[in-house]
Amino acid sequence: MMYRNLRIALPLAALLAAALTGCAPSVEKKTTAAPTADGAKKKIVVGFAQVGAESGWRTANTQSIRSEAEKRGIDLRFADAQQKQENQIKAIRTFIAQGVDVIMFSPVVEPGWEPVLQEAKKAGIPVILADRAVKVSDESLYVTFIGSDFVEEGRRAAEWMAKKMNGKAVIAELQGTPGSAPAIDRKRGFEEEMKKYPGMKIVISQTGDFTRAKGKEVMEAFLKSPEGAGINALYAHNDDMALGAIQAIEAAGKKPGTDITIVSVDGVKGAFEAMVVGKLNCTVECNPLLGPTLFDAAEAVAAGKTVPKRIVTKEGVYDQTQAKGLIADRKY
Ligand code: AHR
Repeated sequence: MMYRNLRIALPLAALLAAALTGCAPSVEKKTTAAPTADGAKKKIVVGFAQVGAESGWRTANTQSIRSEAEKRGIDLRFADAQQKQENQIKAIRTFIAQGVDVIMFSPVVEPGWEPVLQEAKKAGIPVILADRAVKVSDESLYVTFIGSDFVEEGRRAAEWMAKKMNGKAVIAELQGTPGSAPAIDRKRGFEEEMKKYPGMKIVISQTGDFTRAKGKEVMEAFLKSPEGAGINALYAHNDDMALGAIQAIEAAGKKPGTDITIVSVDGVKGAFEAMVVGKLNCTVECNPLLGPTLFDAAEAVAAGKTVPKRIVTKEGVYDQTQAKGLIADRKY
């Protein structure tokens, strides 16, 4: 079958390699990585339009992409969109004009990609979605989507919270960037799971844009709001916002991790440090180390092979009971 779902565990590169087949790609290619006349492998050119540098997760993701490209001798054209969709669209148009072999991007938001992806398709340049999904009516506009199952992450966060709070919680929610796949899906997954527990209620919810500074600012406002005094749980769509919120909770004279039980998503080192000192209760992992899998796919596509349409990263859930034992091995 040409496209199928695939759930992968690390080492991602090896498993993806095993899944790749030798069929024709769905997008007509402009160039291929076929050997040159002297037998040397052609150096592929990849354009990557990154979201920005909003979080520890994103920094680790960028690092993984850059170092993997370097290791493989790939000519990487990297653009930082500073969390703006229009910057990503501009970058993609530049990659098209440059005639790169493959375009990869991690979309800031889900909608609004159809025109630029049509342009890439017309130019015969395959597109790989990294980390986040897009909302398009025509799925042939991209060859594969490699990243986490954000809905599942939301479910796992709610499941952990329900267990910890015995099914009763007055919850504040810090959402990610409005319109982004992780914000939409993590909210959906959490709310779906929460339905099983009538004693769990989200009483206040706002975006903190995935940043530590906004997480702090919004949590301050939550605590000052009419609902503030009753909040005994926090669900943050990423660790950075939770770490900002911890500062706000302490400034308000409360004990994060005790007065307010906190679960967030990502599993960055800062979250493990906060768990070790008892200020964060749980982090649901979202793996940013996508470089090897992304470039396995890019090289395969550039060589005329097909890749699975969806590649899902395998991830865990970590709480305070595991944090001390795991922190030394945390890579990001
Ligand atoms: O798309 C992944 C999310 O984006 C991460 O959870 C968050 O930290 C980042 O900004």
